[in-house]
Amino acid sequence: MSGQGSSKKSDSSPGYDLVVVANRLPVDVTVDASGGVSWQRSPGGLVTALEPVMREADGAWVGWSGAPDLEHEPFEADEMLLVPVTLSRAEIEGYYEGFANDTLWPLYHDVISPPAYHRQWWDAYRRVNQRFAEAAAAQAAEGAVVWVHDYQLQLVPRMLRDLRPDLRIGFFEHIPFPAVELFQQLPWRHQIVEGLLGADLIGFQRGGDASNFVRSVRRLTKHTTRGPIITVNDEDGRPGRHVRAAAFPISIDSAHFDRLARSPEVQARAKEIRADLGDPEVMMLGVDRLDYTKGIRHRIKAYGELLQDGRLDVGHCTLVQVASPSRENVEAYQELREHVEVLVGRINGEFGELGHSAIHYLHHSYPPAEMAALYLAADVMLVTSLRDGMNLVAKEYVAARSDERGVLVLSEFTGAADELAPGPLLCNPHDIDGMKDIIVAAAHMDPKEQRRRMRRLRRKVVADDVAKWSQSFLGVLTAMPPRTSHV
Ligand code: G6P
Repeated sequence: MSGQGSSKKSDSSPGYDLVVVANRLPVDVTVDASGGVSWQRSPGGLVTALEPVMREADGAWVGWSGAPDLEHEPFEADEMLLVPVTLSRAEIEGYYEGFANDTLWPLYHDVISPPAYHRQWWDAYRRVNQRFAEAAAAQAAEGAVVWVHDYQLQLVPRMLRDLRPDLRIGFFEHIPFPAVELFQQLPWRHQIVEGLLGADLIGFQRGGDASNFVRSVRRLTKHTTRGPIITVNDEDGRPGRHVRAAAFPISIDSAHFDRLARSPEVQARAKEIRADLGDPEVMMLGVDRLDYTKGIRHRIKAYGELLQDGRLDVGHCTLVQVASPSRENVEAYQELREHVEVLVGRINGEFGELGHSAIHYLHHSYPPAEMAALYLAADVMLVTSLRDGMNLVAKEYVAARSDERGVLVLSEFTGAADELAPGPLLCNPHDIDGMKDIIVAAAHMDPKEQRRRMRRLRRKVVADDVAKWSQSFLGVLTAMPPRTSHV
């Protein structure tokens, strides 16, 4: 996909009826030596979720290309208008690597890694959020729906409302929202809460995230709350708009994964993967971005101890760990990579044999067909996050297993655990002994029990797919009563 085209506008009024605002555009950009720009569709979950609604609604997508200093006109691709927002290298450092990924990310994931609070990062976050809000305001038709996504853009709803009080604004937080006792560490907690309250509807992954947010509103502002409804008062204390905060658990394109995994090519590839691994009795699989929230070290530690204890052995069992590169300029991620790689090296050195590695560690990302083959090949899927908004890998594994085989080990601290229990074997990744017992139980689970659990899981994952998620969010947003004032 490439190009730069004229923008398609809605028939009724200038501008687009649906505008999505997300940190990333749904395409990756390549800039060649002569400065030529080309765009390739990136296979992220969000674009899959929104593609059908975007196509139907005549939509525009505002986002960053992922490259520094790239200036590019809006262009048409896959029946939507893509609107690139330019970020300088310094803004990438302050807004993206700094405030988004070294302040908010660790704070919202229960301070697993210590958040850093820097005033320059906050200034960059504010400035960049303003730019996104202006870009969205410029594209939206009168009365349009604007859907803003994730922790990188929490000031956009309020900024957008100031620019365009006619819009209907939704916000979805893809990551957890922390307890107020943690959230209140943030020096700019008031601005973030007020920023989000610019929306009409604020969606979260779990009911617990929505109630954490409502508690923060009660504790940190003068607005009144009643259940999920927040009444945003104006500066003189007069009641104004109603904002709803509620759970809308995200999902995947289940039918797509199911189809992929049923294709002869993927099935052949799954067999090939097992053969390449020496046809182990039990193949375990971990698939994560290389992120400290994912509990990769806890998982590998538990696995290493099971080899040490002789409860698993490399002649019969192997672990494949896919760790896709992520946020490599952020120090906490560099440290994690060091730690994981030292640990993998130590376990392989100690327990590996010629022809039998204890752990196959792959620091790559793979296309969906290869992922489907890995899922299909794996007897046990290990999802051991210390904190995770949802975890879509768990759902992809289930969607790929139309053979009703395989065991999902799932951390209690994922949004997916709230939805999928009691199908998975739930674990607490902090409890290494408990997790070891669960991994052994998964490795030995009889096929009948596997089938019973996988059926349950599949019923849920197939029914609640990502199209249903976006329809239900947009359905609630557009059905909300008209605003009573422009507070
Ligand atoms: C999480 C976030 C997304 C983000 C993704 C990849 O899923 O919720 O907003 O896009 O991680 O991270 P990156 O920093 O590469 O965009």
